Amino acid sequence: MSSNELSIIVPTYNEAENIQPLVDLLANTLDGIGWEVIFVDDNSPDQTSGIVRELSQENPRVRCIQRIGRRGLSSAVIEGMLSTSTPFMAVIDADMQHDETLLSAMLTQLKQGHDLVIGSRYIENASTGTMPEHRVKISRAATLIGNIVLEHPISDPMSGFFMLRRELFESVLPSLSGKGFKILVDIVASAPKSTRIDELPYHMKKREFGDSKLSAIVVWEFFTLLANKLFGKYLPLRFIMFITVGLSGVGVHTLTLFILHKTMQVEFLIAQSLATLIAMTSNYFLNNLLTFNDSQHKGKKMIAGLFSFYITCSLGALINIAVASMAFNHGVSWWLAGIFGAAVGAVWNFALSSTYTWKPSRNDS
Ligand code: GDD
Ligand code: MN
Repeated sequence: MSSNELSIIVPTYNEAENIQPLVDLLANTLDGIGWEVIFVDDNSPDQTSGIVRELSQENPRVRCIQRIGRRGLSSAVIEGMLSTSTPFMAVIDADMQHDETLLSAMLTQLKQGHDLVIGSRYIENASTGTMPEHRVKISRAATLIGNIVLEHPISDPMSGFFMLRRELFESVLPSLSGKGFKILVDIVASAPKSTRIDELPYHMKKREFGDSKLSAIVVWEFFTLLANKLFGKYLPLRFIMFITVGLSGVGVHTLTLFILHKTMQVEFLIAQSLATLIAMTSNYFLNNLLTFNDSQHKGKKMIAGLFSFYITCSLGALINIAVASMAFNHGVSWWLAGIFGAAVGAVWNFALSSTYTWKPSRNDS
């Protein structure tokens, strides 16, 4: 028996109705090629995994990886690729939005010496089809920004449809972040200069069954991925975000103090205490939404989270004051002592927040 040359990785979350039709389309278009398809399913409540396994009983080209307690498209794709040994690997949506008939042309390009072939919606003879206008705008903007970071300019870095050589995958593997949606940007950003990339046009199709899993937060994840590629070498991105949120808190504090004390004549000590509380609360919610998006508190957990954050910040403030006065008493100038105290307090707050308030979860996205 000759071995397979192409693996198709399909990340899935609630795609039960799309499995059989997709496998039929693949079988049709890949006639004459040794292929296999690996569905990487994050334990979808609609039993996608079960359906894939049933199908693999009768069709040895079909395999299932079922992940428990995990979410995330990028990490699903990476793990799917790691489970194969074919020289060529492709990624495609389960919902048949991508034009699977492009797969054999992609394979030909790889065999002719390319390392990566991308299905693009933004070149001649291609389109986003019926994709809603606001999604097209977001995708366009992300494409522009993506290209600032990428050494290899490509027309559709947000594409979820591409094929690559195993050697390329293995060479970028140690640098992949594996977080969020944007596996292609992740790969291209880490690809060596000499990588040969080609793009093939396709018209994006409508999703027949099920719903899109892309949400606004996915866009945020994309920007953090880019920022990480840009600045991650110098300072952890999470720390930069934490500090930015902290600075926004200074603004919130000052504004609240002004409103309470200056315009509403509230006594200074009370106004100052309320302003501190409000700034901490706003910092908590912003950090929950942005900095610690991957272990976000939801529902009732937010109450416990908020109080844990109050405690962390209060201890941070005490340490800040202690360090600053110690420095000041040792003859350090007032402003340097102040900055030093604030910096030590900020690092303390960050360390405690990321280990206790927002405990790292097993979720990837
Ligand atoms: N395993 C796993 N885990 N799979 C997931 C997850 C997850 O957490 N979230 C989404 N998927 C799967 C979906 O089931 C689908 O097969 C594929 O990943 C893409 O998700 P969609 O929900 O279909 O995304 P979309 O069609 O809105 O977004 C399309 O356009 C983006 C660019 O604008 C896709 O083609 C994306 O890949 C593309 O980046
Ligand atoms: Mn889709």
